[in-house]
Amino acid sequence: MQPATKLPSLMLLVLMGSELTQVFPANPEESWQVYSSAQDSEGRCVCTVVAPQQTMCSRDARTKQLRQLLEKVQNMTQSIQVLDQRTQRDLQYVVKMEDQLRGLETKFRQVEENHKQNIAKQYKAIKAKMAEIRPLIPVLEEYKADAKLVLQFKEEVQNLTSVLSELQQELGAYDYDDLHSRVTNLEERLRACMQKLACGKLTGISDPITIKTSGSRFGSWMTDPLAPEGDTRVWYMDGYHNNRFVREYRSMADFMTSDNFTSHRLPHPWSGTGQVVYNGSIYFNKFQSNVIIKYDFKTSSISRTQRLDNAGFSNSYHYAWGGHSDIDLMVDEGGLWAVYATNQNAGNVVISKLNPTTLQVIRSWTTNHPKRSAGEAFMICGTLYVTNGYSGGTKVYYAFHTNSSTYEYIDIAFQNKYSHISMLDYNPRDRALYAWNNGHQVLYNVTLFHVIRSEEL
Ligand SMILES: *[C@@H]1O[C@H](CO)[C@@H](O)[C@H](O)[C@H]1NC(C)=O
Ligand SMILES: *[C@@H]1O[C@H](CO)[C@@H](O)[C@H](O)[C@H]1NC(C)=O
Ligand SMILES: *[C@@H]1O[C@H](CO)[C@@H](O)[C@H](O)[C@H]1NC(C)=O
Ligand SMILES: *[C@@H]1O[C@H](CO)[C@@H](O)[C@H](O)[C@H]1NC(C)=O
Ligand SMILES: *[C@@H]1O[C@H](CO)[C@@H](O)[C@H](O)[C@H]1NC(C)=O
Ligand SMILES: *[C@@H]1O[C@H](CO)[C@@H](O)[C@H](O)[C@H]1NC(C)=O
Repeated sequence: MQPATKLPSLMLLVLMGSELTQVFPANPEESWQVYSSAQDSEGRCVCTVVAPQQTMCSRDARTKQLRQLLEKVQNMTQSIQVLDQRTQRDLQYVVKMEDQLRGLETKFRQVEENHKQNIAKQYKAIKAKMAEIRPLIPVLEEYKADAKLVLQFKEEVQNLTSVLSELQQELGAYDYDDLHSRVTNLEERLRACMQKLACGKLTGISDPITIKTSGSRFGSWMTDPLAPEGDTRVWYMDGYHNNRFVREYRSMADFMTSDNFTSHRLPHPWSGTGQVVYNGSIYFNKFQSNVIIKYDFKTSSISRTQRLDNAGFSNSYHYAWGGHSDIDLMVDEGGLWAVYATNQNAGNVVISKLNPTTLQVIRSWTTNHPKRSAGEAFMICGTLYVTNGYSGGTKVYYAFHTNSSTYEYIDIAFQNKYSHISMLDYNPRDRALYAWNNGHQVLYNVTLFHVIRSEEL
């Protein structure tokens, strides 16, 4: 029973080479106790022993606890990196806004000075723009302060990492409880910060980037927001009507540059362009029904089928562009959602949160927005955003917040480069909108505004 001090856990199996039969500890409190004994198939004696409860093992237990703490801190480091990247991206947007603001202000002053010249129209336009932007100034200031706090987190977690590493070598030199509470405290604040920063209100949509030009006028494409690190497979579904072949591209780079793909034949054709790939499965609306199917790509089989009660289908309540787009499935930070309309809600949009395993409705919200006059809709952080149309000048103009069951009218313009959007969905991992625009696969970045207050950190 010599290796006792190196044993990592309280209970373990010891394999003995000889036909040892029993171990009797001199003092059961202080040494190893035989829990049971038996012989295995090779005639070796197998003993289950229970390690003593105090000092001998506490060092090992503590090492293990430390390892866990270190892992926690490493996890936090990763989260902070993500947070930092996002914040930096938003910061760029903020700085750009500031520049624009300054430019406008200068222009405004010039115009004011030259007021006597007859440029009243220009003057008015700028004045309106200024009025629109001015309330943003304090928000921008606050945002910059928040970005600083993220940097502070970064420093703190770096500090903790180094302290913990030292500690592994020099056990006992620090107060473990103190360290533990520091890590827990940092973790809690970080979690709150992540929640705040990861979510927010949509305030801007970037210019589009065309990733590929392929397929028909209608279709959908996406990546899986829960795909493991390094899995950037692209999923591609051409057409809205009676098709059942899903293309899988190995990576975004492959998708952009090649036509090398694997084809998956679904057991049923789909309706519309509302499919979503989530955690290795595709969720789609079965053709000419209000049935939702979850199909697992790994096992190539249906894992769940569920009717969406009362949901209109087969062009009863399509989006403005038509195409059997009655039921739109989507994923945001909070999980899986279905957006559709019912007779009961007079053809207005209904939002349902779905259990991704059972496809059962967890909760529904009824809105006052007619489904047929919506261009497209997507969900970000529990808010449904609805666009005004699929062709011509497009903007996001209606938002329904499921957290408060309230709606508001907003005005966020975005470029409709190819004049026919038949799919628009948010991916919470990329924080991007995936769009299918007239045979072009297009991406937009979104800016989410999230103001964290210092006292919350
Ligand atoms: C760290 O993250 C990994 C992967 O997300 C997870 O499996 C593990 O439990 C986390 N460790 C701690 C201590 O939180
Ligand atoms: C890092 O930790 C040490 C020891 O607790 C402390 O003295 C130092 O101020 C910390 N540095 C930062 C940047 O938090
Ligand atoms: C609901 O979410 C919106 C947008 O994210 C936010 O502005 C609002 O404060 C939230 N309301 C509540 C009650 O949490
Ligand atoms: C095509 O993709 C498959 C995997 O999806 C890969 O094994 C193969 O090497 C690729 N072929 C070319 C020519 O890129
Ligand atoms: C994703 O799938 C894995 C395994 O299939 C499962 O363990 C995990 O809970 C799923 N995650 C979510 C968020 O559904
Ligand atoms: C979104 O932002 C990332 C990071 O700044 C950038 O690499 C990417 O090209 C952007 N995508 C779009 C569609 O603008």
